[in-house]
This record gives sequence, C-alpha cells and structure tokens, in this order.
Amino acid sequence: MRTYLVTGGAGFIGSNYIHYMFRKYGDEIRIINVDALTYAGNLENLKEVAERSNYTFIKADITDKEAITKIFSENEIDRVVHFAAESHVDRSIKNPEVFVKTNVLGTAVMLNCARESWELPDGSYKEDKKFLHVSTDEVYGSLEDDGTYFYETTPYAPHSPYSASKASSDMLVKAYIDTYHFPANITNCSNNYGPYQFPEKLIPLIINNALLGKKLPVYGDGKNVRDWLYVDDHAKGIDMVQEMGRLGETYNIGGHNEKQNIEIITIILDTLLEMLPEDDARRAHISRDLITYVEDRKGHDRRYAIAPDKIKAEIGWEPETMFKEGIKKTIAWFFEHEEWMKNVTSGDYQNYYKEMYHGK
Ligand code: NAD
Ligand code: DAU
Repeated sequence: MRTYLVTGGAGFIGSNYIHYMFRKYGDEIRIINVDALTYAGNLENLKEVAERSNYTFIKADITDKEAITKIFSENEIDRVVHFAAESHVDRSIKNPEVFVKTNVLGTAVMLNCARESWELPDGSYKEDKKFLHVSTDEVYGSLEDDGTYFYETTPYAPHSPYSASKASSDMLVKAYIDTYHFPANITNCSNNYGPYQFPEKLIPLIINNALLGKKLPVYGDGKNVRDWLYVDDHAKGIDMVQEMGRLGETYNIGGHNEKQNIEIITIILDTLLEMLPEDDARRAHISRDLITYVEDRKGHDRRYAIAPDKIKAEIGWEPETMFKEGIKKTIAWFFEHEEWMKNVTSGDYQNYYKEMYHGK
C-alpha cells in the first residue's frame, strides 16, 4: 500500500485533495496529513475521513526538522505532496516574515528530510519515491491585458512577499532536482475556488458578505484578472502529474477561465439570487449596491493567465468544471455549511477583518 505524506492537508486545497484521493483510491492508499493548524488549518474540513484506518493526522510544523525527521523514520513514505504554506497575499504584505519561515525554510526542511530518508549510498533513490511541490502562477509576476500567458518557461518575477517566498521555495526544489537528482515535480496553478476555502480569499468572502448583507470590498478598479480553477480539477492535476509526469519537470495548471474581479462579484450576486428560495429573507439585501471600491492592494498584480498546454499534451489533464457549474457547486456547499462559516469567521478572523478593511 502506497503511503502519502501530505503537508497542509487541513487547509483549503489540501483537504479537498485528501477527499479527492480517498474518493479515487479508497483503501488502496494510506495518507498521513501533517499540519501545524494555523488560522488557515481546520480539522473540521476532514471530519468525514478522520476515522478511516488508512488516514492519520499529525500536528506538526514543517519548519520543525526533528518532528518531520521522526515522521519519515517511523513511516515508509512513498509520496510527498507539499501544500503547507502561508497563502494569503494581503497577510504577506502586513507580515512577511512568517511567509519566509514557512514557505522557504519549511520547504527546505521537507526536501532535506525526504532526501535523507530516500537517498541510497550511491546517490540514487529508493524505487518509486516522489515529491510534489504545490506552487502558484504568482511566481511569474503580472501580465498586461494583452492576451499573453504564463508558460513553464516564463521567467520568474514575483512581486508580493507571498509570491517571492513561493518563488524561493520553487527554486529550492529546482536546486534539489539539479544538484541531487531528487525525484520531484513542481506544479504552478492559478486561483482555486470551491468548498472549504477560507473567507479571507475573494470568492468565499464575497459569498459570505453578500449573504450577511455586508459591503463587498473591491480593490482598485476591480479590473484585475485572475484565472479561476475549481479545486477538484487542481487535485486531479496534482495526482496526474505525480503519477504520469516526467520527474524533474514543472507543469502549469490552469483552466483558461480568466475573469475580472468585478465580473466574479456580479456572477456571485446573480447566482445567489438564482439559487436562494423565493421566500428567503436574505434576497432582500443581495444587490449590486453592496459593491464598495476600496484602496488597492499594494503592488497588486494586474492579470494572471496560465497556459496549460504542457500538462494537456504530456499528461492529458484538462479542467472538467466550467465556472458556471463550479460556482454553483461552491455556493451550494456554503449554503449547506453555514455552521462551518460561522466557526471560521468567529474569533481571530474578526480582528483580521477589522484591521484589513478598517471596519467597513
Ligand atoms: P491554506 O492557507 O488554505 O492552507 C494552508 C495549510 O497549511 C493550512 O492547513 C495551515 O495550517 C498549514 N500550514 C501553514 N503553515 C504551516 C507550517 N509551518 N507547518 C505545517 N502546516 C502549516 O492554503 P491553500 O489555499 O490551500 O494553498 C495550499 C498550497 O497551494 C499553498 O502552497 C499555496 O501556495 C498553493 N496554491 C494555492 C492556490 C489558491 O488559489 N489557493 C493556487 C495555487 C497554489
Ligand atoms: O494565483 C494563485 C494565487 O491565488 C494563490 O497562489 C494564492 O495562495 C491565493 O490566495 C490567490 O491569490 P490572489 O491574491 O489572486 O487571491 P485573492 O482571493 O486574495 O484575490 C483575488 C483578487 O481579488 C485579487 O485581484 C485581489 C482581489 N480582492 C481580494 C479580496 C480578498 C478584492 O478585490 N477584494 C478582496 O476583499
């Protein structure tokens, strides 16, 4: 039975990936989820799998070399899927250091522990061991509104402390591949959306605020473009790259689904009105009047757009979920998980929100 070590599995994409993998492989695989449970990590995301005999949760920080070494020495790990990171750009602008610590040092620790556990005395590796580093399209910087795309060959040009820390972590993985022939892949994916996404990110924040009748903050002119991908399509891409990708290669993952932020917000408002029952009281306050233009994000990247040509040609991955369908599935999930939203937006999140949006 193949054993996966998933880091950051209690976060948004990591928890969706774990659900995807158990749906796909059932009892054929074992998953060990290592997560420090920061504000973004939530074990409620995994309650359906918590009792499985082939699932183990370990609370540990990826920067803690001793803890990670112990996990490798006590388990025969076959696959590492490395999600754990500080992931929110706005937080990185306010507090960059923790991004460097987790994203750069944490990745270095993961790489080093995997290498120590997998490398043989002659410098080759135990058979069929693989490490996948989950990264972002933000490492490529910002595009103009001119129809160009990010390719795997696009030079790195990160702007925010978040993307700079992810770019550094990618470079470390590339260095391990080149220096030690370490069996790794990198995936650079565009913006994800779907169930379990923390409401500091645009889509869940807008859904939650609209349902509560709160203002919908739009940074700058609202015309920045992101390339949105339903999270299950990302999970599928990660699995396909790990099993079918050429070792040492980078693969871009994206859905050719570019939209301006303001378009996303209006689609959400329209879809909420389409989905809420006629007698639901919340319909009364859901309107475009909630849209509020606020100060722009510092260093705000204008446009991201992934060219997923390589993953399609070499591996046969393609996005399956159209945005219209994905946003409906996402909104339906939030309707069914009001308690989840209440739990994650209580406590510390209130303070973050007040500070970030100046009480608006
Ligand atoms: P998230 O913030 O929702 O989850 C991050 C998880 O990592 C949390 O469970 C958190 O507790 C854990 N974590 C943080 N610091 C840790 C540490 N020091 N040790 C152990 N665990 C720690 O993030 P996400 O949106 O699910 O993103 C996951 C990965 O995918 C990140 O590497 C991110 O850069 C990348 N990515 C995200 C997107 C996106 O749209 N969200 C797109 C492309 C790539
Ligand atoms: O592109 C992949 C990246 O996507 C990931 O690497 C990051 O981890 C993930 O957080 C995401 O980064 P973005 O900065 O693109 O996502 P965010 O949801 O924070 O913002 C999306 C866009 O919406 C961006 O242009 C900023 C804007 N925005 C965001 C918020 C939270 C607003 O206009 N208002 C808001 O309140």
